[in-house]
Amino acid sequence: MPSPQQVRMPGLPEQVTIYEVGARDGLQNEQTTLPVEIKAEFIGRLAEAGLRVIEATSFVHPKWVPQLADADELLDALTFVDGVRYPVLVPNERGLERALAKDVREIAVFGSATETFARRNLNRTVAESIAMFAPVVARARAEGLAVRGYLSMCFGDPWEGEVPIAQVVAVGSELLGLGCTELSLGDTIGVGTPGHVTALLAAFADAGVGPDRLAGHFHDTYGQALANALAALQAGITTLDASAGGLGGCPYAKSATGNLATEDLVWMLHGLGVRTGVDLDKLVETSVWMAAQLGRPSSSNVVRALSS
Ligand code: HMG
Ligand code: MG
Repeated sequence: MPSPQQVRMPGLPEQVTIYEVGARDGLQNEQTTLPVEIKAEFIGRLAEAGLRVIEATSFVHPKWVPQLADADELLDALTFVDGVRYPVLVPNERGLERALAKDVREIAVFGSATETFARRNLNRTVAESIAMFAPVVARARAEGLAVRGYLSMCFGDPWEGEVPIAQVVAVGSELLGLGCTELSLGDTIGVGTPGHVTALLAAFADAGVGPDRLAGHFHDTYGQALANALAALQAGITTLDASAGGLGGCPYAKSATGNLATEDLVWMLHGLGVRTGVDLDKLVETSVWMAAQLGRPSSSNVVRALSS
């Protein structure tokens, strides 16, 4: 299959960690709920394609996200590959109990920069959700787990509109203060633009939070995700979230469509001479297979170009 010509751009990292969210952020938003064996096969194929961080599922209330109600069964069905991390989402102590019972080694809590989305996604105010996460993060860290903190609505909120940068830095700093090892900045509805990314990362740096503790989580609703990813790389970020085939969205965020497609990100990174460890051809085959499972074409430009 074709591949991009490599031309380095000054100031970019040699290597990037792709944090693959297709099995979680992707599948949580699909109309079709896939059988657990298909999900396990998907995750197995992603590992075979060279992804080294694969978010597997969420231990949330099954009524809130029915597509991931089989989280316990999925962990039983997975074949774990050495050197691959399989984080899961956990909102509260009940979720942590369920994850620990399955020997999970890495979790993510997920907060919101805005009150409206905190209420809709977690049934809590921002302060109440931080209070809900505190014992989860403390116990997980005490058990030796890595804990990512997600922060949603960092670049705009469908109900509240513009979100002040200072508000994002304040809530993000609270999540890190709980003991989160990494903070992923979510453009949940894909409205952000590169200058906004640069400004937000500069504001975090001013608050003492460098890019080594941050990740970028861009949705592609307005076609800005790749540009935003490049702005994040230029600011020193080396972890980027992406979803195979561009699956995804968020069931509780109006107008949150697909995540940045992993294939589109890999094409850009390989063109820039940045190592990812991903075999693009194998990943495209996986997304074509997944599209057939879901009965609809992939939204990734690279998947469409390479599979036509
Ligand atoms: P709640 O209704 O306030 O829960 O929901 P509660 O604490 O009052 O408990 C009610 C009942 O739920 C109890 O059962 C609990 O045991 C049970 P009862 O005693 O009544 O029989 N329960 C649970 N059962 C299973 N697993 C659990 C669990 N917790 C409570 N973990 C809650 C609060 C947080 C649970 C709910 O709001 C929830 O599950 N929300 C999840 C929403 C979600 O998953 N959204 C998508 C992920 S976020 C996202 O996609 C954004 C991201 O991609 C970044 C970006 O793009 O911005 C990360
Ligand atoms: Mg998301």
